Amino acid sequence: MKKIGVGLLGLGTVGMGTYKVLKSQQTEMERKLGVELEIRKIAVKDPQEVADQVEDPGLLTDDWREVVGDDSVEIVIELMGGMEPAKTSILAALKAGKHVVTANKDLVAVAGRELLDAAAENKCDFLFEAAVAGGIPIIRPMKQCLLGNNITEIMGIVNGTTNFILTKMEQDGMEFQEALDLATELGYAEADPTADIEGLDAGRKVAIMASIGFHSRVVFDDVHIEGITKITSKDIQYAKEMGCTIKLLGVARCDEEGIEAYVCPMLIAGEHPLAAVSDSYNAVFLHGDAVENVMFYGRGAGSLPTASAVVGDVFDIARNIQHGCCGRISCSCYKELAIKKMENTKNSFFLRLLVEDKCGVVTAIAGAFAANQVSIAQIIQRQSKKGVAELVVITDSVKEGDLKKALETIKAQETTREISTVLRVYKAEKGETQ
Ligand code: HSE
Repeated sequence: MKKIGVGLLGLGTVGMGTYKVLKSQQTEMERKLGVELEIRKIAVKDPQEVADQVEDPGLLTDDWREVVGDDSVEIVIELMGGMEPAKTSILAALKAGKHVVTANKDLVAVAGRELLDAAAENKCDFLFEAAVAGGIPIIRPMKQCLLGNNITEIMGIVNGTTNFILTKMEQDGMEFQEALDLATELGYAEADPTADIEGLDAGRKVAIMASIGFHSRVVFDDVHIEGITKITSKDIQYAKEMGCTIKLLGVARCDEEGIEAYVCPMLIAGEHPLAAVSDSYNAVFLHGDAVENVMFYGRGAGSLPTASAVVGDVFDIARNIQHGCCGRISCSCYKELAIKKMENTKNSFFLRLLVEDKCGVVTAIAGAFAANQVSIAQIIQRQSKKGVAELVVITDSVKEGDLKKALETIKAQETTREISTVLRVYKAEKGETQ
């Protein structure tokens, strides 16, 4: 039986999961692929620390160069994460003619083009299914099964930590900090949760999905990002009363004006399939002109789920090696579409305002909206305490720039005490569940 040498860079949560899945597939893989994959070298920060967790501690090194420079290694799996030395090691591996698999969304969202170009130049595969939504297949489906579509929208819940937090806030009435503390205690949130709660992690995934779905490079900086730290249980309660739930959504849309890509907490109708995606689960919803709507649901993080995607890529490369080919799923960005400014995007908005409870206040607010082409769908006076009324306003679908101008006017009005909440409301594409 032919053997293909594999080198691992990193043996953390996903690295160890990948090691375990490769080991557990040892017999099956020969029948699945007609070839045996053999781990030949593993680079870790501290070999001593993990020596008792691997079958052959002799494979361990603390230098990634030893993996990349090993002639018996044909496939390098980069699972160190972060920008460096991940980028240098991947480029070195490709230059040395080795195929690379990574789960590194930070890197792919910023330097995807450079890495894919390097792979093409060196006639190697560079695959990163695990970089978006962990165990959920989404990159390969877009690049292969759905390639016959013009995809116009890709949206979803692509961060498990924040979905867990929002679920706890909705189901158990917790405030944000309490739910974050619970997420940390249960191991869903990292010691520094910034990348998750500020939406950065989801933003990287949106950049990657948009690039692939719309065939035009979208990088992390092109994605408008807002996190969930300002969401209160009151917002969630009001959304619930209106038949909606609040989710941190990653949204990428493409039309004749270009691409819009953002991550922000949004109200979504309770009947939409994504509203039922709770706890740390992820789901991606996609609209193509031929297929209509497709939804992918599953574990977006975690050791074995993410390893499942990594090993799928490794097996695919093994098949390519067997058949003497590569580059079948390479860079698919053949367009250069404009990225829309947020002020030119259109959404319906949910607003919560504290205003003086006086005659003419609602008229003044309605006037500011009308003067800026913002049409009101609903306006409700929630409660009035000590002369201050709480207003909840839902707008029709409006241009974000117009809404901002209207809110500046309203903020400057003497009777406005506070604009407490401004949230976008997700409206489904035609044919989706509203
Ligand atoms: N921290 C991410 C999440 C997983 O909570 O979904 C890795 O991207």
